[in-house]
Amino acid sequence: MNLISSPGKPLQGLAELPGDKSLSHRAALLAALAEGESRIDHFLASGVTQVMLDVLTALGVSWSLEHSQLVVQGHGLNGLSAPAAPLNCGNSATTIRFLAGALAAAGIPAVLDGSSGLRRRPMDRIVVPLQQMGVSIQATAGCAPLVLQPSRFPLVPIDYTLPVASAQVKTCLLLAALAAGGPCILHEPGFSRDHTERMLRSMGVSVTSTRIGTNGGTQFETCLTPSRPLALSPFSLILPGDFSSAAFLIVAALITPGSAVTIKEVGLNPGRTGLLDALLSMGADICITGQSTRHGEPVGDLVVHHSPLRATRVAGEQVVRMIDEFPIFAVAAAYAQGTTTVNNALELRNKESDRITDLCQELTALGVQVIESADGFSIQGGAPLQGGITNTHGDHRLAMSLAVAGCASQAPVAIQQAEIISESYPEFVSTLRGLGACFEEQL
Ligand code: S3P
Repeated sequence: MNLISSPGKPLQGLAELPGDKSLSHRAALLAALAEGESRIDHFLASGVTQVMLDVLTALGVSWSLEHSQLVVQGHGLNGLSAPAAPLNCGNSATTIRFLAGALAAAGIPAVLDGSSGLRRRPMDRIVVPLQQMGVSIQATAGCAPLVLQPSRFPLVPIDYTLPVASAQVKTCLLLAALAAGGPCILHEPGFSRDHTERMLRSMGVSVTSTRIGTNGGTQFETCLTPSRPLALSPFSLILPGDFSSAAFLIVAALITPGSAVTIKEVGLNPGRTGLLDALLSMGADICITGQSTRHGEPVGDLVVHHSPLRATRVAGEQVVRMIDEFPIFAVAAAYAQGTTTVNNALELRNKESDRITDLCQELTALGVQVIESADGFSIQGGAPLQGGITNTHGDHRLAMSLAVAGCASQAPVAIQQAEIISESYPEFVSTLRGLGACFEEQL
């Protein structure tokens, strides 16, 4: 499917978001590990979360999903059964990394595999520390497929420093730590989203998070102390809207003249909101209203008005807090006056696409002046964006960002193979159309 995004009317009105992807993954898996029935409302039904649900089925877990309410029958870590065939994790790095930790804790032998895109994503970052915990796991040249064999229990407690701040790696290790013989301590060089820690605490697990100032900067320490016998309590929760999906609506409203959009019930975990800080520093008119805490996660409404933007610089710790938002941030930068630079963002090369090279290539195709660097890029913004034909590189966020770029360009932007959008945000086209965006789908 080709999506054609054309400049048009101002975006106006109220938008509701799908449930948070990161929380949907965690809630489905942790509910499967709990003892009893869990209910998760406003669960994200999308390509990557369906992958997680299908994998749970292959592990013998019963669940039902109706009108975005997921009900999971958990039978504890020991209630999982060994899968009859390799587990297909599709394009979902979150699924394969979380699952490796959970199956290591459960002692389930399995082969974890996925799409050709997933097979390119680095897995050494979980395999090395899991092996230090005594888990019998092998990667294939540092990538999937991963082969897990039952290990000797309890697993070995670790005190481990993650080379790159990563909530996926942290979550994998925290799940394995549930079966460790003592406290496990993880250090990260940046503050990655702490959804897992918040959810595990609500299930009765002892997890602490500490910010530590060192000579070399700030470190973030997470410590999980497993209890014996391990019994995870089931839960009922309503998931907030996905900030990473809101990001597309925010930037669309900021760059489209005359726009005024309110986005309801957005999850505002501090590990996710780096883009807000970046946009505010660019002069964006964004207000947060109705803030509250829901099931341990901060939530609020965002009111966004079209704003003239100026260039900014993103580097260091902020990169982690907006790790998924660089494609859409780059679009905002293309519409901002001056030169925006991004550094210390090497990790972007390990995402669904190479979000440095591929992003720079597609923006260049739209006439944006971009310079790629080893660990980031700089964008000379402010000149009118031309239209053009673009590629998604199999990346849902790149696809949506290019569609947003077309909301205020001089001529239409065509996005080829735009069906990839449904991996994380199946309602993207209808929601933006509802606000007034001019999107046409060509089969
Ligand atoms: C995620 C963490 C991030 C992010 C991904 C979802 C999560 O990955 O890019 O989309 O749910 O924990 P890293 O933690 O590996 O940076």
